[in-house]
Amino acid sequence: MNFENRVALITGAASLEGIGMSIARQLSKRGATVVLADINKNGVEAGANEIEGKGGKAYAVQLDVTDQKQVQSVVEEMVEKVGKIDIVVNNAGVSRPSRVQEITQNEWDLVLNVNLKGPFLLTQAVLPYMKENRYGRIVNLSSVSGKRGGGVFGGSHYSAAKAGLTGFTKAVAREVASYGITCNTVAPGLIGGTDITGGLMTEEMEQAIKLDIPVGRLGQVEDVSYAISFLASEGAGYITGEELDINGGSHID
Ligand SMILES: NC(=O)c1ccc[n+]([C@@H]2O[C@H](COP(=O)([O-])OP(=O)(O)OC[C@H]3O[C@@H](n4cnc5c(N)ncnc54)[C@H](O)[C@@H]3O)[C@@H](O)[C@H]2O)c1
Repeated sequence: MNFENRVALITGAASLEGIGMSIARQLSKRGATVVLADINKNGVEAGANEIEGKGGKAYAVQLDVTDQKQVQSVVEEMVEKVGKIDIVVNNAGVSRPSRVQEITQNEWDLVLNVNLKGPFLLTQAVLPYMKENRYGRIVNLSSVSGKRGGGVFGGSHYSAAKAGLTGFTKAVAREVASYGITCNTVAPGLIGGTDITGGLMTEEMEQAIKLDIPVGRLGQVEDVSYAISFLASEGAGYITGEELDINGGSHID
């Protein structure tokens, strides 16, 4: 996979341990210019420094993916600076382990807005540029929670948002296919060591979860970022509207 002369915008890339930074590392080491966008400014600056320190090209931008004006202006600013955006990875996400009767409207809105409205806003903002170039790769982060009914750390709002994102992705894929733009999702199972679990994972939980994973271990961020790199590559141009499971066989459908 070669990403030379490609520009990739990755949301939710503030944590050095997170999936977003792992995607940025994968794409950067194969030649891409990466734009790290997150609500957490310090985090993306640290990530961009790491990539530049290794000889890559990276930009850090503060972005709340739920704010249409910010999304629009970040896309415009980056196109002006770098010339284009070839790849978008809608990776920003939040999760709350609440049971359905405990979910407040505010929490529902937060989870739906970050996980579902954010990818809609960014897709809408970037499509005119991708269409003009007749090239684009959009990869959205769904989750096994959206398919099997709940997750360990995500409630019904998280499942609803991720299942919604899968439907959104399929519809967009069909709409934009004739412009050389693909739109796919990945659906990871539980990935160890990232912040989204909110520090709630205990050793006992981890052991119990592993028993249900045929591959015999928790997922790692590299498992996800490698699969995303494939879907973001030029050679994956005939794959669109697809959902790629990354769960060690814990959910096979
Ligand atoms: N870790 C897992 O087990 C797992 C499993 C399936 C899917 N996912 C998905 O993978 C993605 C990355 O998660 P992660 O595990 O790396 O966790 P993470 O917490 O490191 O990454 C999420 C990022 O989203 C950012 N974010 C939150 N709200 C935002 C907003 N309004 N605007 C911009 N950025 C915002 C956070 O600051 C954070 O950097 C998420 O979409 C998550 O739902 C994770």
